[in-house]
Amino acid sequence: MASDTLTIIDNRTGRKYEVPVHGGAIYAVDLRQIRVSEEDGGLVSFDPGYMNTAPCQSKITFIDGDLGILRYRGYPIEQLAEKASYLETAYLILRGELPTKTQLADWSHHITHHSILHENVKKFIDGFHHDAHPMGMLVSTVGALSTFYTEAKSIFDAESRDKQTYRLVAKMPTIAAFAYRHSIGMPYAYPDNDLSYTGNFLNMLFKMTELKYRPHPVLEKALDVLFILHADHEQNISTSVMRGVGSAHSDPYCSVAAAAAALYGPLHGGANEQVLRMLNEIGSKDKVPAFIEKVKTGEGRLMGFGHRVYKNYDPRAKIIKKVAYDVFDLKGRNPLLDIALELERIALEDDYFIKRKLYPNVDFYSGLIYQSMGLPIDMFSVLFAIARTIGWIAHWEEMLLDPEQKMKIARPRQIYKGAEKRDYVPIEARK
Ligand code: ACO
Repeated sequence: MASDTLTIIDNRTGRKYEVPVHGGAIYAVDLRQIRVSEEDGGLVSFDPGYMNTAPCQSKITFIDGDLGILRYRGYPIEQLAEKASYLETAYLILRGELPTKTQLADWSHHITHHSILHENVKKFIDGFHHDAHPMGMLVSTVGALSTFYTEAKSIFDAESRDKQTYRLVAKMPTIAAFAYRHSIGMPYAYPDNDLSYTGNFLNMLFKMTELKYRPHPVLEKALDVLFILHADHEQNISTSVMRGVGSAHSDPYCSVAAAAAALYGPLHGGANEQVLRMLNEIGSKDKVPAFIEKVKTGEGRLMGFGHRVYKNYDPRAKIIKKVAYDVFDLKGRNPLLDIALELERIALEDDYFIKRKLYPNVDFYSGLIYQSMGLPIDMFSVLFAIARTIGWIAHWEEMLLDPEQKMKIARPRQIYKGAEKRDYVPIEARK
């Protein structure tokens, strides 16, 4: 009869071990008993880049990379993008269920009423150079919030966690917008509580001298959908960093700053910025074949293509393509779109990309939309960070409340390959 165990025979010693299989996984610590001698520390699994390691159990997001499926708390991303708002989705991701009318009103009220920044935070932002990258400003400013809300250290106090959650979700757009206004030398625009989450963000970005800023509903909706699509993506690098830093029981502001720093990287959230730079560099549709050839010979990557998990079309990229056309209908077709479409067409027919299962990811088209909305390239990963904040917080809280994880600091092992013990050599004697 089949049993939920795995039998391992160690051919070095001839010994046989039986380890339990829990929900498709073996516990890596069960390998430790496999050793050649008493001095041997035991077998470890070696997994650079975490290609096949699950550091946690999670109930938040489900991805099937082969089938191109993404669900938050069981709800397909396509349905949420079409029917829900970002704040409703954020509530779902955090609390596990769609909110009732009262719950949504309460949640929105809390988020709306925490969007103002302490005036000293403004001074902090003032201190950055005019050409500082807004992502650098965001990372440091959100980390600095830790010094304003010292009670955030009480991470096991549910009330305090809720408060920091409201503040983080509410203040990320304000910090982002202030960073943008600072970089273009414009006075800061304060939050407007009458507007939606994304409507208010557009207000803080683009308000000029008018008494009341009215966001265009198409742009407000487009941004809302983009935020929904970026809200969570299970154990990506920034979320892993959030969990990793959070496992040391750091406060949520420092943990979010660390997660955002990971998101800044061009292989993660910085990719949409790189896509635009790549499209600009290619310059015209006729140069696409030559560019693809360069990528195939290893001279750079096709940014916005490929994904560690999706080996099929990223379901978010499909939704984004539709949003892109809504925005282009309003703002005019982005001239870089033709280059992007040609890149996609050629890549999807090319053996190099087919063999490696490289498809457009979420970042391939998002940058084109942001650019058409009037946002500079530097702001793209900042927008991603705003949307992803709720995902980071949900994972952080899930980890803190998980009896298996809450008192366990993330501490991987290593395979030491360095020098054997040797004695100190005085500087005069060194060659
Ligand atoms: N262009 C060209 N070749 C690529 C690309 C790409 N975008 N992505 C992967 N490959 C190739 C690799 O060179 C490798 O080829 P090889 O087997 O001949 O060596 C093969 O495909 C597998 O690549 P890996 O790097 O092992 O794949 P991995 O899963 O580690 O990388 C990643 C995933 C980092 C996203 C990668 O596809 C990439 O760098 N893409 C471009 C950056 C990007 O768009 N990032 C955004 C991801 S989505 C997000 O974070 C929100």
